[in-house]
This record gives sequence, C-alpha cells and structure tokens, in this order.
Amino acid sequence: MSPEANTPMYSPLRHYSAYAKVNLGLRVLGRREDGYHELETIFQEISVRDVLTIAVQPEGITIGCSDPVIPVDEGNLAWRAADLLRRSAGIGLGCNIQIKKNIPTGAGLGGGSSDAAATLKALNREWGLHWPLERLLPLAAELGSDVPFFLRGGCALGRGRGEILQPLAIPQGWWGVLVYPNLTISTRWVYENANFDLTKSLKNSKFYSLTGFADKLSDWDIHLVNDLEPVVFNKYPYLKKLVDGFKRAGAFYARMSGSGSAIFGLFLDKSDALSALAKTESSYTTFLFHPVAGPAL
Ligand code: C5P
Repeated sequence: MSPEANTPMYSPLRHYSAYAKVNLGLRVLGRREDGYHELETIFQEISVRDVLTIAVQPEGITIGCSDPVIPVDEGNLAWRAADLLRRSAGIGLGCNIQIKKNIPTGAGLGGGSSDAAATLKALNREWGLHWPLERLLPLAAELGSDVPFFLRGGCALGRGRGEILQPLAIPQGWWGVLVYPNLTISTRWVYENANFDLTKSLKNSKFYSLTGFADKLSDWDIHLVNDLEPVVFNKYPYLKKLVDGFKRAGAFYARMSGSGSAIFGLFLDKSDALSALAKTESSYTTFLFHPVAGPAL
C-alpha cells in the first residue's frame, strides 16, 4: 500500500520545534576539490527555537513566515526540504508550513538548516513515510552542510563538510547568553575571504582533536577555537569586543558561532548569565539559552 493511502487528505495542525545550534569549536582542516572546506566542529543544539506548524494538503507546497524578509518559495530551505522528500518518496501530497521565526538569520545559528531538518522529520510522519533516520540523512546533506546535525540534535562532532556526525556527551549544566548584533553575514563570504593557516602543525596533527578537550569545561577556553573568527573580527572588530565583554562578565567560555555574526557567552550560574544579558547593548537582539539534550546515546 502506498504511504499516502494511510494519510488523511488534510491532517490536523501540528507544531514542531526547530532549535538553533552553536558551534562550541570549529577547526578548518583544509580546502576540498568540491569547493567546500574540511571541518571539525562541535555542534550543540540550544533552546532558542523556531516553531513550524505543518498540515498536509492535497497538493502544492505552501509556506508562510512571521518574518516578511524571509522567502516563502524555493528560496526557503524548508520548501526545498519538503520538495526533495516529496520527489524522493514519490509522494502525491502537499503541505502547508507556517514558520514562527525566532532564530536570527545570517547569524551562524543554523536557523534555515534547522527549519529544513524539522520539515523532513515532520513530513516523514505527516506523509506516513516513517523512514529511519539513516534514510533521511542523505537528503539532509543535499540540502546543506548543517542540516544532518539537526535531524538528531543534541551535541555532536561534525566532520567532512559538517555532515559526518558522531554524537558527543559533554557537560550540559550551564547557561548561555546569545547576542545577535543585527548583522547578517554570508557563510560563503567568510569561507572565501578567510586566510586559513593550514600549515600549523598542532592544528593539523591527527592527535589534536576538539573532542579531546570537550569533557572539561575549564579546558574549553584554553583549547577550543573557531577558525572563522579572525576574518569576521577583522572586518567587524566590535564582535570581538562582545566576546571580551562576556569574559569580563564572568563567562567561562565565549565565542562566535559558526560563520557569525552571533556571539555567545557561557556561564555556570543562571544569575551571572542574566546579569551579563542585562549589561548587553540594548539595541542588539539577545537570548538566554540552555543546551538541548539529544536522544540518549
Ligand atoms: O552547505 P551550505 O550551503 O550551508 O554552505 C554554505 C557555503 O559555505 C558554501 O557554499 C561554502 O561556500 C561554504 N562552506 C564551506 N565548507 C563547509 C561548509 C560551508 O566552504 N564545510
């Protein structure tokens, strides 16, 4: 029986969370022939989220978004996710996706990628496919380097373009403050303009891996890096000042997420996180967050 035989023509509206991520560390290991960069990164899902309300409809993929600047056609990664799943499964149904956008875009927080992963997971259920995660992963990788991570979420080491994943167990008892300095940065621009020193022997050594320092919070500030920071901080020095401000406010760790522009500071005490949040420049968009745990390892 085809999957849609079991699926009502119109399903009830259901809500799905699409959480953001931060990169706790990101090393660029080399350039690849396909134009991408070989990475090692620690992804951590965080409690800042978009909410997708999804309903099955007889045909067509339609999208609405609370942020009028975001495209609602093929330019939206959630649209492309629905279309890719529909074509891959040979499904003769459509869907309506309403996106309540909270995750800032162009911020290195994976908002569009997370919406796409949530769309794959939701339609896998709503269209009655029930494919295992392994079957959704290649579709996710086709949509973007960060999309596979969001299918499972939690904390993971990403290699390759970021799509080769290994779940990680790291300390989770901390609070984060996220600052979006109202600046959109293109990931492609960052990679194209960065001047990676790929000859540093320590960083290239197979013995140096971010995971070796992920277990102890006191190691993070000493050993975890984001190789995309120099090019971004060089162009926007005030982002580096946000990192320094978090450290002065008592953060045990502060970094840029992914290719920016979002900056985060991590605190052991919620009260310290809240006072750092209160001190942040009021014209910036800020969030208090905590890590989101993935499925059990
Ligand atoms: O995969 P995604 O579409 O998210 O990547 C956006 C851009 O970031 C790519 O077109 C590429 O320029 C750059 N990128 C890269 N190496 C990666 C991931 C992204 O060069 N591992």
